[in-house]
Amino acid sequence: TALPTATLVIFGATGDLAARLLMPALITLRRGGYLDNRFKILGIGHEEGDGKMLRDKLGSFDPGKGGEGDGEKGQAWDELAQGLDYLAGDFADDRLYATLSERLAGSVVFYLAVPPRFFGTIVEKLADNGLTTEEDDAYRRVVVEKPFGHDLASAKALNAKILSRVPETQIYRIDHFLGKETVQNIVAARFANTIVEKLWNNDCIQSVEITAAETVDVGTRGAFYDATGALRDMVPNHLFQILATITMEAPANFDAESVRDEKAKVLGAIRTYDRHEAIENSVRGQYEAGRVAGREIAAYRDTADVAADSSTETYVALKLLVDTWRWAGVPFYLRTGKALGVRDTEVVVTFRDVPFASFPSTRNADLPPNQMIFQIQPDEGIDMGILIKRPGLEIATEQATLSYRYDKAELADLTGYESLFHDVLRGDQSLFQRADAIEAGWRAVQPFLDAWAEDDATGPEPYAPGTAGPRGAERLLERDGRRWHAIVDRVEDKA
Ligand code: BG6
Repeated sequence: TALPTATLVIFGATGDLAARLLMPALITLRRGGYLDNRFKILGIGHEEGDGKMLRDKLGSFDPGKGGEGDGEKGQAWDELAQGLDYLAGDFADDRLYATLSERLAGSVVFYLAVPPRFFGTIVEKLADNGLTTEEDDAYRRVVVEKPFGHDLASAKALNAKILSRVPETQIYRIDHFLGKETVQNIVAARFANTIVEKLWNNDCIQSVEITAAETVDVGTRGAFYDATGALRDMVPNHLFQILATITMEAPANFDAESVRDEKAKVLGAIRTYDRHEAIENSVRGQYEAGRVAGREIAAYRDTADVAADSSTETYVALKLLVDTWRWAGVPFYLRTGKALGVRDTEVVVTFRDVPFASFPSTRNADLPPNQMIFQIQPDEGIDMGILIKRPGLEIATEQATLSYRYDKAELADLTGYESLFHDVLRGDQSLFQRADAIEAGWRAVQPFLDAWAEDDATGPEPYAPGTAGPRGAERLLERDGRRWHAIVDRVEDKA
């Protein structure tokens, strides 16, 4: 089932994203028979060079080298490489677009894998040179990478600029978390199961935690990261996409507009705090020097291209509220950070206590609540924490876990970009962010950005690498009589 043929034009083809994520995804699609010989790739970059230069550059990177299926991958790569060419040019120079107009015919996907300052310019130049004009049998689509804006004002300005030239139906704003199987699985778990969806509300759920913990440090990304921080890098995009998937109402249809309407509504319902509330409901952290995942790392402030007195956060925890009938009063605790003790992205949904503990000598407080845990990555699966009778003559309960794990082989090599490419080529925008949802996300985090900018005297709380983050994050939940689902301990237990 090959997809309708097209040319993929990658702006920024010599960059890290193309080699690390885009090519492996295209190779997987080629192996799966989705791309045939007519599929062409045209890379564009500032670097001088030709098709051979790009082929050498992209071909030298293969995450599965020597692994199972390597031969097949090599073959898929060779086939793709036959249709791969390169054009050196300046993204702001009209001559580049004139050349593109001469070279391109038929359906084209323009992929903007470039630093965000180029997004607006490239879209304008493409449109002004007639490159985004569609014909009946030839589409023109523009894929925009993240970060989409730096705050609410810049995201709005960028949307306005892009949409002044190209309609929303041709714009595909990427959030690669939406391409993850396990994020899409939340939708299936909710809307294909009566036993889940009927309980999915503030009558039955007491709190939701969304965690994206990473062991990687900032490494060579200092220049980008120091101007960005954990909040901008992860929250209004990746974590909010998970939040929207957990909280959205069931769309009447699974077409792109119905799904995106529901997501935009729920993101728009995240309570916007005033400055005081923003400080109260957020914790920032920054890692010190130490040991993580078996290696010594420098303190964040000693990272290349990071200011020595930087107050950029490498960890953030937030308490948010979603003001809808379904979610009123349910706290959403979000946390994400670098150089933590474990790589773990998960959603923990904690249900309310039973109304009355009728077992002899049991108090309500002794019965741990039910939990449903979506394990996004790694160790992909779903766990349900339930109480069972402890075997024996006494009536006593203990906690048990019902577990489903994905077959590793089925997820192997998937980067999340496969389904996104697949959908762009099919013209399905469901898994791409619409302008209103992007702006709703920024609107919800803007109070934190503003409050922190004003409150710079305090700065982020230092934390030791290899831990679960700053102590303040624990206090954020303790205040509500809760504790985070243990991530670091759990992995140590397994070791
Ligand atoms: C990117 C962020 O968007 O997502 C990175 O810029 C982060 O800082 C990455 O590491 C996480 O993605 P994944 O797929 O590895 O969880």
